[in-house]
Amino acid sequence: MTTLRAFTCDDLFRFNNIGQHRGARRGGRCEYLAHWPEYFIVAEAPGGELMGYIMGKAEGSVAREEWHGHVTALSVAPEFRRLGLAAKLMELLEEISERKGGFFVDLFVRVSNQVAVNMYKQLGYSVYRTVIEYYSASNGEPDEDAYDMRKALSRDTEKKSIIPLPHPVRPEDIE
Ligand SMILES: CC(C)(COP(=O)(O)OP(=O)(O)OC[C@H]1O[C@@H](n2cnc3c(N)ncnc32)[C@H](O)[C@@H]1OP(=O)(O)O)[C@@H](O)C(=O)NCCC(=O)NCCS
Repeated sequence: MTTLRAFTCDDLFRFNNIGQHRGARRGGRCEYLAHWPEYFIVAEAPGGELMGYIMGKAEGSVAREEWHGHVTALSVAPEFRRLGLAAKLMELLEEISERKGGFFVDLFVRVSNQVAVNMYKQLGYSVYRTVIEYYSASNGEPDEDAYDMRKALSRDTEKKSIIPLPHPVRPEDIE
């Protein structure tokens, strides 16, 4: 049986079998966890093995109707994929964002990551904008664009937050 539980600081050092990406490296510190503990959820197997995790936060201006939940990192270990785990973790993050009064949930994903892009579309997300060279070159990989994908929450009754931008933006243009 899968256990879904809150992150501990120790969990941040146990991700070798799952992998990390830009968001996890940049944001996966204990201080970050301390700011948004409810947005950090771990899925654990009965033997204690980490199956997957989601890290997120709440951010944005309430006045401009941009207050939202953000997915910083989502990863499921290869042996536990296609079991609906990522979908469940996303559902939990959306519920938390609803409770906090967010207008939408958003995330950044590599444009080449077709599996993830299609999964997010399956979960109701759409491309809001393309962010040019959001992912900097590293480990021999070139710079890569990101899709900023969004899903409107119930507070955004007119779904204004997900109207796609007509042009791509640069990383320095995003808040
Ligand atoms: C993307 C990832 C998180 C998906 O995790 P997962 O637990 O296997 O996903 P789920 O089982 O919840 O899949 C939900 C739906 O997404 C789609 N999907 C997920 N993985 C898929 C795949 N490999 N091929 C096709 N569709 C896929 C399916 O529609 C699936 O529903 P279904 O199984 O009922 O058909 C996982 O593959 C992963 O950790 N990848 C590496 C890290 C990553 O890319 N993270 C996201 C970056 S922002």
